[in-house]
Order: sequence, then structure tokens, then C-alpha cells
Amino acid sequence: MKFTLAISALASLAAAAVSPVQSQVQSRQLSQLTLSTLGSSGVDVITFDNFGYDGTYFHVKSLGDASSDTCSCKLSSDAVYFTGTNAPLNEELSVHFRGPLSLHSFAWYTSANYTHGSSEGTWERQAYYNASTQTSDNVTFLTHGGDSSTCLGKALSYAGSNGTESASASTVLASDNLIGSNEEFIIFSNVSCPSSGYSKDCGVYRSGIPAYYGFYGDIKMFTFEFEMPSETSTDEDTTYYDMPAIWLLNAHIPRTSQYGTDAYCSCWNSGCGEFDIFEVMNSTTTDQLYSTLHDYQGTDDINDGIQAAAYITRDTSKVMKGGVVFDSSGKAIVFMLDLLTNAESISATTVNDWIDNAGTETVKSLSSIAAATSTSKKSGASGTIEKLGLGAILLSMVFLAFMYI
Ligand SMILES: *[C@@H]1O[C@H](CO)[C@@H](O)[C@H](O)[C@H]1NC(C)=O
Ligand SMILES: *[C@@H]1O[C@H](CO)[C@@H](O)[C@H](O)[C@H]1NC(C)=O
Ligand SMILES: *[C@@H]1O[C@H](CO)[C@@H](O)[C@H](O)[C@H]1NC(C)=O
Ligand SMILES: *[C@@H]1O[C@H](CO)[C@@H](O)[C@H](O)[C@H]1NC(C)=O
Ligand SMILES: *[C@@H]1O[C@H](CO)[C@@H](O)[C@H](O)[C@H]1NC(C)=O
Ligand SMILES: *[C@@H]1O[C@H](CO)[C@@H](O)[C@H](O)[C@H]1NC(C)=O
Repeated sequence: MKFTLAISALASLAAAAVSPVQSQVQSRQLSQLTLSTLGSSGVDVITFDNFGYDGTYFHVKSLGDASSDTCSCKLSSDAVYFTGTNAPLNEELSVHFRGPLSLHSFAWYTSANYTHGSSEGTWERQAYYNASTQTSDNVTFLTHGGDSSTCLGKALSYAGSNGTESASASTVLASDNLIGSNEEFIIFSNVSCPSSGYSKDCGVYRSGIPAYYGFYGDIKMFTFEFEMPSETSTDEDTTYYDMPAIWLLNAHIPRTSQYGTDAYCSCWNSGCGEFDIFEVMNSTTTDQLYSTLHDYQGTDDINDGIQAAAYITRDTSKVMKGGVVFDSSGKAIVFMLDLLTNAESISATTVNDWIDNAGTETVKSLSSIAAATSTSKKSGASGTIEKLGLGAILLSMVFLAFMYI
């Protein structure tokens, strides 16, 4: 009896651990969201539960012959181990915008200990852009306007005031800043990186780029006021035609290679982290903004990543306001609401109210471990065993414990 119980407990534990994800919908306003509407109407809050895991990724060790099409990159053979709440998205992040989009405001906040639902943990604003007042605190606008090579794609450059032209120095994004389909700009902090080097703070990065730190914080929040109007150009052959997005990358990625052809040229493929906050996925669902995590938490498919089942509706006719909170209990909460403000200091209670009163919520619960098959061949490093992650080791320990009951 005991043995059977142990086995079935183990089986369900194993199932919980290896099944990619479990998804459920919670409704704060049940009348608005029933199971039958899931997937066919928008929500206001997308919560990822159990966000963050124990795993590894690999940094770029060298970018050889970077400006040539025959360049070759090497990843380090030393794995970076990450662990804990929100990992690896608890590392420094850069913030990315794709058109059609115009940005009215952006803010980055940190908190000592915000947990959704608790009144502790005031949020302090640490970076801020306001288009109408042209305030730009601790913000650097970059774009892909530098040297191009097939292997690395285009290098980062300072963005000019319209977001997509290159500039020779840091420039504040103009108040009138609509960018079109497939055009992008990126926000980093205004703190310069030390010189490129594997053991330096920003790691190895592409030579000649303006290199800045991203936005740190185990517990952090980003807020945005933006428009995503319908694309007016009729050139539907444009890549990402009418597919705007706002997303976060581990800040190491764009400093080496965001759109290259060689997976060894950034830490992305080995799982250093991407979180898509508001993203149109394809040309048939251009009015739907999805949230997706791209790392190896509970999946071995980093390209598809883990997407919440429901979407937030893209309203092409108004200024949308929303953001994402990464809290101390491992919740990543994406929200959209009209009430949002971006004051210098925001109480935990205010942020709780935003989330709780925004409307309907969908919840995606993430598996605690990396998928056992998550070893990335492209990482080319000796990380096979490490890639199984602490979670798998813990699971084996649990197994051993059950064997001895
Ligand atoms: C920009 O700043 C002004 C003045 O503080 C404020 O009234 C306005 O709401 C801000 N706009 C945005 C979009 O944050
Ligand atoms: C949360 O942080 C605040 C400000 O640092 C502090 O006053 C409070 O005691 C902390 N609460 C907990 C539960 O750690
Ligand atoms: C600017 O952002 C960086 C993020 O890396 C942070 O270290 C720094 O303290 C911030 N500066 C200010 C003045 O808030
Ligand atoms: C970075 O931004 C902060 C906040 O606005 C400002 O105090 C500081 O002077 C800026 N630093 C640089 C190097 O521009
Ligand atoms: C930005 O300015 C450049 C140079 O004038 C121009 O080629 C580009 O089309 C502009 N982009 C937008 C989005 O207005
Ligand atoms: C478009 O993306 C959505 C969200 O991921 C997905 O449900 C839908 O099947 C996709 N449609 C096509 C045609 O790929």
C-alpha cells in the first residue's frame, strides 16, 4: 500500500515535472470569462506562475572576424548557472519595440520585496521616458543601424530622434515617434559598459557598438504607454507586416547578435532568456497580443517557448497602457489597464489594485524544471549534464527517498 502510494505520488510528481506546462484560467469576473470564451476573446491580465528555474546557459566567448560573412563565434565552455525566482529573466534586460508602434512613456521600477497581494514593497522608478515632456532619465535609445554581416546581423547604433535612423550620440526619441512594420528600437539604461571581455560586467560584445547596461532586478516592473495603430503601408511583403511587439531580452543578446544566422553568436539559443510582453504572433491574429517565455523552463523548444493560452486585445485606435511585474514569489504578471500612471514612487497597494481591477485574468503555471532534453546542441559546450538542471537532480533525490520508504 505504502509502496503503491509512493509510486503513484512519484508518478504524478514526475508527470507534473515533465509535462511542459499546465494552464488554467482564473476569472476575477466570472461572467466575462467562461471556458467557452477562452482563446476567442481577450483578457486583461496574463499571469505566469512559478516563473524562474534552476538552469544554465552559455555566454559568447569570442566574435571572430565579426564584420565578415564568414565570421565565427565561440560560446564559452563554462556554463552560467542561474537559480531562483524569475531566473534567468532576473538578469539585466533590454527593452525592445517593433512597429507599427509609437511610444508615449516607458518606465522601469524596482522594489525590495513586492509580492502580488501584499501591501509591502514600494516601487521606485529608476528609468523613465516621457514623449510629451521629452524627459529621458537613465534611458538610451538604440537601433539596428550599425555594420551588417550575415553571421551577426546589423550591429547596434544610437537611434536618432525618429527611432530608426542612426545617430552619432545618444538622442532622445521625439514625441512624434511612430515606427512602421519591421522597424525596431531598443531601450537600455544610460550606464556605459566597461570594455568588452568575457569576465567583464557586460561580457563580450560586438566592437564599435554603444554598449550599455540593461535593467536589473530580481523584482522589477516595466510600464508602457503606447499606440499600435494599423499599418498604413500597403506593402504587405514587409517582414512582420502589421505585427507590433514589446519584449525583453537578456541584455547580452543584442550586444552580440540579435538577428544573425549563427546561434553561437549570442546566449539566446542556450537559454539566457527572452520574455515577450505584448506580441502579435502572425498576420491572421493582428488584433491579439500574446505573452511568451523563451528559455528552457519546462520545454526543450526555445523557438516556440511557452505561451499563455489567452491574449490581450490590441486596440488600434487608442493609447494603450500596461506593463509587466516580476514579483518576489515568482509571478510574471502582464497587465493592460487605462488607470496606469508612472509616478516616481508607486505603492504596492496601487500595483495590487491595477492587477486586481484590470479585469479578466489567465494563469499559466510553469513546470519547475528544465525539460530533460533541453541540452542545446548548438551551445556546443560540455553542458550536457548541467543542462538537466538542479530540478532533475532534486527529482532523482526524491525518487531515491521514495525507494527507501
Ligand atoms: C508626461 O509628463 C507630464 C508631466 O509630468 C504628465 O502630465 C504626463 O501624464 C506624462 N505623460 C506620460 C505619457 O507619461
Ligand atoms: C519590505 O521592504 C520594506 C522596505 O525596504 C521594509 O520596510 C519591509 O520590512 C520589508 N518587508 C518584508 C516582509 O521583508
Ligand atoms: C540606471 O540604470 C542602471 C541599470 O543598470 C542602474 O544601475 C542605475 O542605478 C540607474 N541610475 C539611476 C540614476 O537610477
Ligand atoms: C543617466 O540618467 C540619470 C537620471 O536621469 C542622470 O542623473 C545621469 O546624469 C545620466 N547619466 C548619463 C551618463 O547621462
Ligand atoms: C527616420 O529617418 C530616416 C532618415 O531621415 C528615414 O530614412 C526613416 O524613414 C525615418 N523613419 C521613420 C520611422 O520615420
Ligand atoms: C497565430 O498565432 C496564434 C497565437 O500563437 C495561434 O493561436 C494561431 O494558430 C496562429 N495562426 C497561424 C495561422 O499561424
